[in-house]
Amino acid sequence: MLAALLLACCCVYLIVWYLLDPQGLRRYPGPLFAKFTHGWLLWVGITRRRSEIIREVHRKYGPIVRISPTQLSFSQPAAYSQIYSFNNKVTKSSFYDSFGSAMGLKNVFTARSKTEHGQKRKLLHPLFTPQVSREFTARTAIVMAGLLEEWETRYGSGNIDIWFDCVPWISWMAFDEMADFIFGEPFGMIHSASDSVSVPNNWRLAIATEARSFEKYPARAFKLHDIVSQRETYNYFIGLLPPWLRGVGRLVLRTQLESSRIFSAFVADKVIERLATQSNSAHPRDLIGRFLHKAGNDSFQPESLIAELITILVAGSDTTKNSLIAAVYYIAKSRTVQSRLQEELDVHVAGRTPTFSEIEDLPFLGACLDETMRLYSPVGLGLPRTLPESGIWISGEHFRGGTTVGVPIYTIHRDQSVWGADAEEFRPERWLQADDTFTTKFAEAFKPFSDGSTGCIGKHLALAQLRVMIAAVFNRFDVTLEDSTRPLHVEDWFVRRARDCRIGIRPRKW
Ligand code: HEM
Repeated sequence: MLAALLLACCCVYLIVWYLLDPQGLRRYPGPLFAKFTHGWLLWVGITRRRSEIIREVHRKYGPIVRISPTQLSFSQPAAYSQIYSFNNKVTKSSFYDSFGSAMGLKNVFTARSKTEHGQKRKLLHPLFTPQVSREFTARTAIVMAGLLEEWETRYGSGNIDIWFDCVPWISWMAFDEMADFIFGEPFGMIHSASDSVSVPNNWRLAIATEARSFEKYPARAFKLHDIVSQRETYNYFIGLLPPWLRGVGRLVLRTQLESSRIFSAFVADKVIERLATQSNSAHPRDLIGRFLHKAGNDSFQPESLIAELITILVAGSDTTKNSLIAAVYYIAKSRTVQSRLQEELDVHVAGRTPTFSEIEDLPFLGACLDETMRLYSPVGLGLPRTLPESGIWISGEHFRGGTTVGVPIYTIHRDQSVWGADAEEFRPERWLQADDTFTTKFAEAFKPFSDGSTGCIGKHLALAQLRVMIAAVFNRFDVTLEDSTRPLHVEDWFVRRARDCRIGIRPRKW
């Protein structure tokens, strides 16, 4: 009886709220359930097919769709620059509050106020310049060579019928790669063929005190991939709930919340370990060294560095990993694309480990990379933004302050009016069309790293690394998919995660 009464009250509240329509969103079409509750978007999240479902609702309802009582999704590419512009007062939505660290400190990803975000971004900016990224690719090549060596030893007998799943290997490589970039040396995951890491048992104590003392705490072993995935699940789902329901979400996702804390403790532990070996080199080779060099010891707070690195370690490894898996899948699937790429590589780097300067201008390699980022869209969702009090104009219409808006990257990356009738196909050649109108049209609808003041800070690094990685794989091996009729299995979270990509390799001969 009480439950029925409660339910009735909730329904009345939702209907009244819908009719009052404080943000003027009633005139926009969308799924019925989405107009009244956040439950629709939560359900979309649970299906792990968010990108596809949002694209379907745009096909059904048009370019502006209401996807929650307070949120609109825009599918016109031109809306991207209006929403994610450098020059407006649009901020990240409360979705980002759930991505905090266990110390409760904001970082560049979670800071929502323009001022706070700008300050954090300014501090990190010099650590991600094109020059720094370029230099780091020499180390990327070494980590990649380690991975390919393992593949050749284990699976490269010359018989293409030894099939293996490349996903865990690329995941270990991506963690090793980011560890090298941040801490100055890889975790050693490729070498041990495992992502087992040790984390202080009492993470609360570790986080609270380790930043000031280097004392060690008893540790437990965890699979890094598992804790990172659980942490992302937690962040993503809590972010989809309206703020007043997040307490309930935290209770339901207790295990995932614990993983988030364990991950914070893991990063804190690694930072402290690295700080203990701090040298005063004028040319530090890792991010922590460069950070200390720039920030100077006076203004340095280990806690803020830990808070930044919690995001950077995941943001840098998860996205690059999934992009490389997708590139391997798409290129291996098409014999023509693979042969053309190998012909190009053979002219410049046949038989040896490619360096970035040797391959940075190779057009077909660049086209394969762009086409992967377009078709796969490692981050596919409409990154949610809140409009300032005065509202803003988007696509010729005015939208009121407080409304949440976003342009789904996956949707614009497959828009047939931009990319043509074959938008669903992996066709790198489309990037080689000389015509300027294509280039302009493509640029407006190609946002794998987002744009504006909150666009990816690691873009130069990621692009340089991926170039080296793709070139290294296909220069060394012919790659075949075990089942080329099987689509790549992808789960949508904040980053779209590729599951299972079984391949066979044959070492190439020159
Ligand atoms: C293929 C690789 C990558 C892709 C597709 C990618 C994509 C993105 C996207 C779409 C955003 C905007 C997120 C938002 O507004 O919510 C972003 C932000 C960010 N990315 Fe990346 N990223 C990649 C690699 C990296 C790397 C290698 C790093 C660092 C090592 C990195 C660090 C960050 C950080 C710190 C932010 C937050 C920036 C801010 O809010 O100001 N990313 N990335």
